[in-house]
Amino acid sequence: MCQNCKGTFYITTPIYYPSDNLHIGHAYCSTAADSMARFKKITGYDVRFLTGTDEHGQKIERKALAQGVTPKAYVDKIVDGIKDLWKLMDIEYDDFIRTTDERHVKCVQKVFKQLYEQGDIYKSEYEGWYCTPCESFWTELQLKDGKCPDCGRAVEKTREESYFLKLSKYADWLIQYIEEHPDFIQPASRANEMLNNFLRPGLADLCVSRTSIKWGIPVDFDPKHTVYVWVDALSNYISALGYGTDHDELYQKYWPADVHLVGKEIVRFHTIVWPIMLHALNLPLPKQVFGHGWLVIDGKKMGKSVGNVVDPVVLCDRYSSDAVRYFLMREMPFGSDGEFTLKAMLTRINADLANDLGNLVSRTVAMIEKYFGGAIEAYDPLDETVDRPLWELAEQTPAKVEEYVNAFQFSGALQEIWKLIGECNKYIDVTQPWVLGRDEASKGRLATVLYTLAECVRRVAVMIGFVMPRTPARIYAQLGVKDESITTWESIQKPFGVLPLGLKVHKGEALFPRLDVQKEIDRDTPAAAEAPKAQPAKKEKKPEKKHSQPEPAAELEIDDFFRVKLQVARVTAAEKVEKSDKLLKLSLSLGKDGTRTVVSGIAQSYSPEEMVGKQVVLVANLKPAKLRGIESQGMILCAADASDSVLKLVTVEPGMEDGAVIG
Ligand code: ME8
Ligand code: MG
Repeated sequence: MCQNCKGTFYITTPIYYPSDNLHIGHAYCSTAADSMARFKKITGYDVRFLTGTDEHGQKIERKALAQGVTPKAYVDKIVDGIKDLWKLMDIEYDDFIRTTDERHVKCVQKVFKQLYEQGDIYKSEYEGWYCTPCESFWTELQLKDGKCPDCGRAVEKTREESYFLKLSKYADWLIQYIEEHPDFIQPASRANEMLNNFLRPGLADLCVSRTSIKWGIPVDFDPKHTVYVWVDALSNYISALGYGTDHDELYQKYWPADVHLVGKEIVRFHTIVWPIMLHALNLPLPKQVFGHGWLVIDGKKMGKSVGNVVDPVVLCDRYSSDAVRYFLMREMPFGSDGEFTLKAMLTRINADLANDLGNLVSRTVAMIEKYFGGAIEAYDPLDETVDRPLWELAEQTPAKVEEYVNAFQFSGALQEIWKLIGECNKYIDVTQPWVLGRDEASKGRLATVLYTLAECVRRVAVMIGFVMPRTPARIYAQLGVKDESITTWESIQKPFGVLPLGLKVHKGEALFPRLDVQKEIDRDTPAAAEAPKAQPAKKEKKPEKKHSQPEPAAELEIDDFFRVKLQVARVTAAEKVEKSDKLLKLSLSLGKDGTRTVVSGIAQSYSPEEMVGKQVVLVANLKPAKLRGIESQGMILCAADASDSVLKLVTVEPGMEDGAVIG
C-alpha cells in the first residue's frame, strides 16, 4: 500500500490462451500493461495488475487429446512457461489467474446461476456455426463465404440444447452508455466500430453453454452443460478479486477496473458481452477498455496460425529485456498496428539506447572522473542562455511524460524523454567540457556543466524505469546514487538540483553495446549464412594477425596522401572484445560528423578506462572491416616500438574539436 495514495488503479491484460510459445505480439500487450502499472505505482497509485490464462475450451481439449494427456496436465506445463516468460520480461503482475483455479470456477458458476435465476439467461436450442480457433459463434448471415468472418477458417455446424444470455434486452442501454461515455472504449475509432458493426444492426442473444464440450466449467445446476469460454474468461477480472465470496476485500477496493487492455480483435467481447453481463449483475462497468493494435509481419497479424511468430525469449536473451521492451513501447503508436522487423529493432537499439542514452551516461561519468576525480563538485551560477534552458526542459519533462502515459501514448512519452537526452548531448557539444578542463580558471564553469549533465542523467534514469526496469539501477550505480529518495518520481518533480554534491561516480560497462545490424540479421537467416558473400567468415577468423602490410612507397604524390581522410575523434566508450586479449572496441565521437565504432589492437597497451576521453587520430575513410564480428569503421593511429608490442597512441594537442580534419 502506498503512502499519500492518489487512489487505486486496477489494470488487466487479457488472459492468454495457453499455447506453448507466446510470441512477441503477446509480449507487446503485457509489456504495455506492465509499463502502465509501473508508471502508476511510481506516480503514487495503489496499483493492482492482473494477468493470467484462459484454459478452457474445445481448442485446448483437442490439443491435449492429440498429445495423449489430460487437458489440465497439458495446460499446467504451458502455464509454467508463460510465467517464465513474464519473469524474463519483468512483467510484474500482482496476481495470475487461471480459469482452472477453484476460486474462478466457483465465481463463474455463481454468476451464471444468478443470471439464470433472474431471467437474463434462459434455456433454448442453438443452431449455428462455430469457429473453434476463435471460440466464436456465428449465424449463417455473419459468415463470409461460408467461413469465419474473423479468421477466414472453416466453421462447424452445431445444434444443441443451450443456455442463452439476453444480449438483445440490453442493446439499447449499451448503445446509450457508449454514446454517453466517450472514454469507455479507446481509441475512439473502436467505439464507432462497435456501434456501427454490431450494436446498431441489432444484437442477437448469445449462446452461453455447450453440451458437446467437456473441458469447461460445468453449469452447476445442469452439469451436462459447460459455460461458454468467453463468459468464463471475461469473469476472470472479478473472480480474481474474490467477487461473490466472503472475502471480497480486493473486489471492494479495486472494482471497477480502471482499464482492460486488450487486442483490437477482442474489443467486441469486452465492450458488448462483458458490460452486459456486469450490468445485468448490477455491477459497475470497467472505466475503460483500450484496444491496442497488432504487431504485424508483412502486413499480416503475427500469430501462431499464420506461423510468422517471433520468439521474445530469443530477443531478450540476445538484446536484453529492457531493450526489447523499449522497442515495443517506442516504435509504434499504441493503438495502431506496427510492422515488426528485426532490423527496425536493432537500428533503434543502436540509435536510441547505445548512442543517445548510452553515450550520454558514459560521457558524463567519464568526464567527471577525468576532471574531478569522480566527484560531483560545487558549481558556479548558471549561464542563463546555455544552462537555464536545459534545466527548464528537465523540469518540464516529467509532466509531459505523465500526460502521454496516462493517454496510453507510450511512444510519445519516450520521445519526450529522448528530447531531453538529445538536448543533453547537444549541450556537451556546445559547452565543450574538454576545453574548459584545460584551464584552472574554468573549473567552476566545468563543474556547472558536469553537474547539469549528471542531474539530467539522474532524471532520465527515473523516467525510463517504467519501460526499462533494469536500466535505472545501472545508471544510479555509475552516478554513485544510493539514496532511494532521489530515485523517485517525486524527486524529479522538484526544481532542478536534487542530486547532492559529493557523490562519487564510477564508470561502468556500456549500458547497451552497439549491435552489428547485418550480422544479427544474418544470424537467423540460414540461407545468408551459407552464402559466402553475406558472411565474411574468412575475414573474421584472423582479426588479430597483423596485416601483412605493403612496404611504404619510396615517394608519394601529395594528392595520394590527401586521399586519406584523417580526423580527430574522441573515445566515448571502450570495452574489451570478448575472447581477445589484444582488441578493444572503441566508440568514437566525431562531433558533428557523428559516431564510429572502431576495433583496435591496443588492449595490451591501454585499458578501456584509460582510453575513454582521449582524442585520437582516425583514418576516417578506411573501408569498414569486420573484426570478431564487429564492424570496425576506420582505424586509429599508433606508434609501435621495434618489437611491435608497445603501442603509443597518436594524439593531438589539447583544444581541438572532435571531428576536426587533419592534414
Ligand atoms: O484472445 N500483436 O487470448 P490470446 C499484438 N483468451 N497483440 C497480439 C498479437 C499480435 N500479433 N497476437 C495476439 C485471447 N495478441 C483470449 C482473451 S480475455 C477475457 C480472453 C494479443 O492468447 C491479443 O490481441 O489469443 C490479445 O489481446 C492477447 O494477445 C491474448 O490473445
Ligand atoms: Mg487470439
